[in-house]
Amino acid sequence: MALYVCLDILLVSITVIFLYLLRIGAQRKSSSPTNWPVLGMLPAVIHNAHRIHEYATEILIESNGTFEFKGPWFCNMDMLVTSDPANIHHVLSKNFSNYPKGPEFRKIFEILGDGIFNADFELWEFHRKTTLSLMTQPNFYSFLERNTWQKIEKGLLPTLEGFLEKGVDIDLQDLFQRFTFDSICKLVLDYDPESLSIELPYIPCEKAFNGAVEALLHRHILPEWIWKLKKWLQIGKEKTLMKAWKSFDDFIYPLVSINDEVEKQEDGYRLLKSFQRKYDEIGKKCSARGDSHEFLRDTSLNLMLAGRDTTSTCLTWLFWLLAANPSAEMKIRQEIEDELHKKEDKKWRNFSVEESKKLKYLHGALCESLRLFPPVALEHKAPIRPDILPTGNHIEANKVVLLSFYSMGRMEMIWGEDCLDFKPERWISERGGIKHEPSYKFTAFNAGPRTCLGKEMAFIQMKMVAAAVIYHYNIEVVRGHVVSASDSIIIQMKHGLRVKLSKRNVF
Ligand code: HEM
Repeated sequence: MALYVCLDILLVSITVIFLYLLRIGAQRKSSSPTNWPVLGMLPAVIHNAHRIHEYATEILIESNGTFEFKGPWFCNMDMLVTSDPANIHHVLSKNFSNYPKGPEFRKIFEILGDGIFNADFELWEFHRKTTLSLMTQPNFYSFLERNTWQKIEKGLLPTLEGFLEKGVDIDLQDLFQRFTFDSICKLVLDYDPESLSIELPYIPCEKAFNGAVEALLHRHILPEWIWKLKKWLQIGKEKTLMKAWKSFDDFIYPLVSINDEVEKQEDGYRLLKSFQRKYDEIGKKCSARGDSHEFLRDTSLNLMLAGRDTTSTCLTWLFWLLAANPSAEMKIRQEIEDELHKKEDKKWRNFSVEESKKLKYLHGALCESLRLFPPVALEHKAPIRPDILPTGNHIEANKVVLLSFYSMGRMEMIWGEDCLDFKPERWISERGGIKHEPSYKFTAFNAGPRTCLGKEMAFIQMKMVAAAVIYHYNIEVVRGHVVSASDSIIIQMKHGLRVKLSKRNVF
């Protein structure tokens, strides 16, 4: 009891001091936060926590792309924040071996265990090689095509049709999240939970991702002792995170156990089984996890996060951007007509992997969605040895370097004066092909040795889904629906994307 009273007094005192400092801070014109004694720049960050990515962007623009953040005293929160392409190139590629993710990253992302996102050095190499070898097997893309089209034909389009018949609006983000959740579960766990259907069934694991990615961003903003205290007290976002953790475990562990018993899966993709074999052969020695079940739980959860949230987020922003830019949507329809000579006497027109590769304007539109709203908003590194960045900033060993991918797409110094405009043409070369941009400038998929392993898979899935929806339906955002980015490590839409559908006459 006495402990709770002391905590209450402490929290009230902190709040009063914060409010006072915020009043003074609000009177300043510049976005750059004041560095207060004891509290450092934390008051301004907390004040802007609900729009943290926008706020970081304002500061970075004002400070030419690189900024020293000072945290409260004794909280080990000082960090260098950068969106400068030369620094990004240096940290992610040129001096890669000096920049592991580091112990701070592992603490924040403890829920991911020994999975690939959390791993460095030998363990990361093991994951990277194993995942890559499985994703480059000859039958991988035929499985992906079959799996994706089945989900579009039996899940997405009938669900859209069902809502259209009922005449009610729908949250497109929710549908895309269900789509990618079912697809990635089938790929990784060889199990389709069928969360995408007109009934919109509640599956705790599927919804748990949203709360988890928000809580993980808050761990970046708060001093470690505060989020640890909240975790211990089981309150706020930490409570949500712990509930998510349980939902993940309840969903994944039974499927990992079934995997033990299944020797041969006929139509599935035996990803987990292959991982288990590799783990037993060589992976055990580089993982702190005792048994293979825990390791396979971590591996599955990391791949599920990689495959669910990123792809669905990009698709959601794409449809919002297209609703605001109808001429771009018309060009995508025209491209489908010209390149794929559509019109088939079937209920739904199929879109294959090969066909989707021909859709260059659609590719450009997806790249614009990724540039303006990179699903993975930031990256987190800590050098082993002190270093000097290309911008001249000195960085001590173990100090966090935060790479803001979100800010990069909004900087004139990187993308020119029209950086805020949605222009798929930016990605089309003079000869009509897809224009390549270096990965340290277009960082949505990360850069260097840790570049996203699912980039090609994501483009294929997103093009098949986007082409099928754009071809069959007109989509209109519900009037008055407020769209804003979530304060989360994955930039989803805070309130989803509510849309109204109407059928296009395509036959
Ligand atoms: C639009 C879709 C996607 C985007 C924007 C994206 C973006 C990224 C980014 C930024 C990273 C680096 C994260 C970090 O190191 O903290 C990453 C890594 C990774 N992605 Fe993706 N991703 C997408 C889709 C996928 C898909 C569908 C998969 C397939 C399962 C996938 C698998 C991976 C894996 C395995 C890594 C870890 C690579 C490593 O650490 O070596 N991604 N992705």
